[in-house]
Amino acid sequence: MFILLLLLLLLAWIGSSTPKSLIATSLIVVVSLFVVVVNYSEKPYFLLQPVFGQTFSSHWMFSKQPYKAFKPHLGYVSIPKQEPLKLHCELCSIVSSSGQMLGQAAGQQIDRSPCIWRMNNAPARGFERDVGQRTTLRVVSHTSVPLLLQKPHYFFGQGNDTVYVVWGPLRNMRKDGKGIVYNMLRQAAENYPHARIYVTTEDRMNYCDMVFKKETGKDRIQSGSYLSTGWFTLILAMDMCKEIHIYGMINDTYCKTEGYRKVPYHYYEAGSRDECAEYLLHESAPYGGHRFITEKSVFAKWAKTHAIKFFNPPWQLS
Ligand SMILES: *[C@@H]1O[C@H](CO)[C@@H](O)[C@H](O)[C@H]1NC(C)=O
Ligand SMILES: *[C@@H]1O[C@H](CO)[C@@H](O)[C@H](O)[C@H]1NC(C)=O
Ligand SMILES: *[C@@H]1O[C@H](CO)[C@@H](O)[C@H](O)[C@H]1NC(C)=O
Repeated sequence: MFILLLLLLLLAWIGSSTPKSLIATSLIVVVSLFVVVVNYSEKPYFLLQPVFGQTFSSHWMFSKQPYKAFKPHLGYVSIPKQEPLKLHCELCSIVSSSGQMLGQAAGQQIDRSPCIWRMNNAPARGFERDVGQRTTLRVVSHTSVPLLLQKPHYFFGQGNDTVYVVWGPLRNMRKDGKGIVYNMLRQAAENYPHARIYVTTEDRMNYCDMVFKKETGKDRIQSGSYLSTGWFTLILAMDMCKEIHIYGMINDTYCKTEGYRKVPYHYYEAGSRDECAEYLLHESAPYGGHRFITEKSVFAKWAKTHAIKFFNPPWQLS
């Protein structure tokens, strides 16, 4: 800001002593560019530079440090105070909601990690042996918020140390009273003042879309798809966790593998459609599907440059 002031003074001086408006004009341009650069470098997105490695280095060249602990993340703000999310963890275990979790007895191993992330309304209670007991953070789709509110005390009341990060499109998340999901969350925050509820900002939602386009070459909206909760979870985890262990997530070729294990789509919905059938349905849906398989191939790519490991089933990453 001090440099900016000097430049402006210089500008004023040139403006008064010479009639050469060309110089003045170019200086104005330089100053404006400088302001924009300063503005952007103060934004949280540059945190992603270490996350996406070389891919984004030309865009996010301001950060030199490999990891910024506890830097407030402006992409996620609390309800109702609008405070940015502050979070850092050495090791996050992400427990998928997949039926792959069943019968693996990974609970103890999961509970040993300092941070345990779950998605949507996936319960721990009743499945402790396979999925563990603790939950430090939940990434929740706007469509799952009504499911949480069916058991508000279980989710927001008793274990109030869980952080909730909700994502959703602006039409449901707008804060002007017209966002139906945002309104529900605001009510929950009123009823449970100790609950730690955050929402993904509009900028951050656009950013997640942009990452999809960058990685797949496809425009998410034009290709008629929705990003999955897993996508938002991984992007957040890469910002917040030094190391990531993912449990129960299948890779992009799993469903084409001879004799793959047929499991329910969600571990807590016994008898629901088989996981691969659900994935194939979504992948080819012309409209409104999740591109789970495409997303998995992007995750495999990220795992090559970040400390991400996959368990049950394991992924062979070369
Ligand atoms: C700086 O960023 C804020 C918020 O992101 C934006 O509203 C403002 O217009 C920006 N200012 C400049 C000079 O780019
Ligand atoms: C959790 O809620 C209890 C009341 O139910 C409250 O006393 C306590 O301070 C809360 N903890 C946090 C971290 O907000
Ligand atoms: C993907 O999963 C299948 C089935 O578990 C396995 O055979 C294959 O080696 C895996 N591929 C990679 C790249 O991890």
